[in-house]
Amino acid sequence: MNAAASALMRARSALTDLHPLPDDIAADAVAGLSKTPKTLPSKYFYDAEGSRLFEAITRQPEYYLTGTELALLEASLPSIAQAIGPGVHVVEYGSGSGRKTELLLESLHDVVAYTAVEISRTALIESTARLSQQFPQIEMLPVCADFTRPLALPGAKRPAQRTVMFFPGSTLGNFTTDEAARLLVAMRQTMGAHGCALIGIDLDKDDALIEAAYNDAAGVTAQFTLNLLARLNREIGSDFDLGGFRHKAVYARERGRIETFLVSQRAQSVQLAGRTFDFAADEAMQVEYSHKYTDAGFNALATHAGLRTTHGWNDARDWFGLRLLQPA
Ligand code: AVI
Repeated sequence: MNAAASALMRARSALTDLHPLPDDIAADAVAGLSKTPKTLPSKYFYDAEGSRLFEAITRQPEYYLTGTELALLEASLPSIAQAIGPGVHVVEYGSGSGRKTELLLESLHDVVAYTAVEISRTALIESTARLSQQFPQIEMLPVCADFTRPLALPGAKRPAQRTVMFFPGSTLGNFTTDEAARLLVAMRQTMGAHGCALIGIDLDKDDALIEAAYNDAAGVTAQFTLNLLARLNREIGSDFDLGGFRHKAVYARERGRIETFLVSQRAQSVQLAGRTFDFAADEAMQVEYSHKYTDAGFNALATHAGLRTTHGWNDARDWFGLRLLQPA
């Protein structure tokens, strides 16, 4: 058996499967389309094509988030490692197989174990197998679960001194403020009294810079947004006409977030799960939020979740931040 195949086998046998309920896409779509204004959940962006398109977004010149966070992480890791201390169990939400995870695992002192928490078993096993080949000294303890709920982590063979939750990319910003607070509470419960969380947040800045990041000139973000409709057509047999909707992303400064919509280009009806949904011309369906944070806003959110910010790192332009939180 080659090294990749045996890494896959090891990842499978290390899996803790908490059997998260599979998503009910049709029920969620019907619920969202029955609201006024209509909505669709952004978590459904990430099928295989959506994940490919998101990767492409991160390479667009206007989408400053990924490059800025990566450079910030690279520059700050010595002081992050010092703040976190040695002997850690790193827990990442989502299947971290990318450069940010590698950098963190390389830089922290004496990483005892690494857990990716991910709802998709296949993505989880593949990313864990890849990382285990790169970091054979780190015990891999993947957990298949819905990360929005608190979870009991599998114990490492060598006990860790501290659990570190890693949630980069400003993914927190895709949740509403209430959902983000609930997610932080779940993180606090999972990390335990001595744990901490390293969270990437996109910072509030000039409206034009933010809006450009979600309206790239090459139209990749528009394709990413429209892929949501393509996915629904593929997976639940709806009949959205992709040419009948356009992507629109605006920065709502008063709410501190990019609000992304799919706007109906004409009056039309869509069949979905045996129901008919009527769209007026120019009707905007809300599909994603991407919150941008001020220090005051982020600290209030953390406090509300029973956490406090102990350390923070920003890039030189104050575009993106990493925050270390621990139970208050
Ligand atoms: C994953 N998430 C943090 C991205 C964001 O910036 O909100 C998703 C995205 N949506 C459009 N472009 C990127």
